[in-house]
Amino acid sequence: MAYETLIIDVEDGIATITMNRPAKKNAMSPQLHREMTQALEDVRYDDRAKVLILTGAGDSFSAGMDLKEFFIELQSNPAEHDRIHRLALEWRGRTIRYFPKPTIAMVNGNCFGGAFTIVEACDLAVAAEDARMGLSEINFKMFPGGTVSKSMGNLLRPRDYMLYALTGRPFDGRRAAEIGFVNYAVPRAELRDETMALAREIAAKDASALQQTKETFRFSLGMDWDTAMNYSGAKVAEHEQRQKDAFRTEGIGDFLKGKYKPGLGGHEHAKK
Ligand code: COA
Repeated sequence: MAYETLIIDVEDGIATITMNRPAKKNAMSPQLHREMTQALEDVRYDDRAKVLILTGAGDSFSAGMDLKEFFIELQSNPAEHDRIHRLALEWRGRTIRYFPKPTIAMVNGNCFGGAFTIVEACDLAVAAEDARMGLSEINFKMFPGGTVSKSMGNLLRPRDYMLYALTGRPFDGRRAAEIGFVNYAVPRAELRDETMALAREIAAKDASALQQTKETFRFSLGMDWDTAMNYSGAKVAEHEQRQKDAFRTEGIGDFLKGKYKPGLGGHEHAKK
């Protein structure tokens, strides 16, 4: 499918969705929400893609919700406002969070407000050291609505969240790494190569094991201890069936044959 607000590439097992409204700092317009909903569906079932990277074109990751097209222009159309609001919550709050493949936010530049929920929903995040970020809502007399407040509680220490949400102060990629909003920050010139290297490292792992890693972590967060243990046990049975026992025959089998040491590296490096 052809998209106007997105670019999709698949290379070396890695799909990249680039938000592509650089003249508007990749602010998320109603059209972008509609297209992202479809694009995530496409990548989900694209067998070539084992890992998904989300990023932005030009000097921005995303400046958050399109303040004009969403908050102003849809004000007179409550049904459409509700439809877009639902799509916006769904693709960031659920679809990416529970995406069956690992996801990486590549924060290449401006990242404000609602764009924080994309970064949070991804499993991993790498930022340019000089990327500008901020919970800017308070600066325009709003507060971090939608899923922003709830999702930030998953990542940030309350002190850090409150500082940035109550002041709206911008911070850079280095600071984002210090407070745990992203995994690490690298010079802008190295961002793509570093992120692709991380994605390739993950793409070389067993696809079912990657999915189970995500699902047992994310879904068990909301469970009590006993339910989580039971769920995790059931996931082992699902995994065994899905990968036809490869973790025993190849994973453990090749360790016992001395072909590699799992403590020091992956099965992809096992001697033939
Ligand atoms: N919604 C709609 N349009 C936006 C936007 C947003 N969130 N963020 C930027 N734009 C538009 C600007 O209005 C401008 O459009 P124009 O060229 O038609 O006038 C264009 O993108 C470029 O932005 P500009 O402000 O000129 O770029 P800058 O580099 O000087 O500043 C930002 C970039 C991101 C710091 C600044 O645009 C900004 O503060 N945006 C709002 C961020 C925000 O509060 N987002 C939270 C939304 S939940």
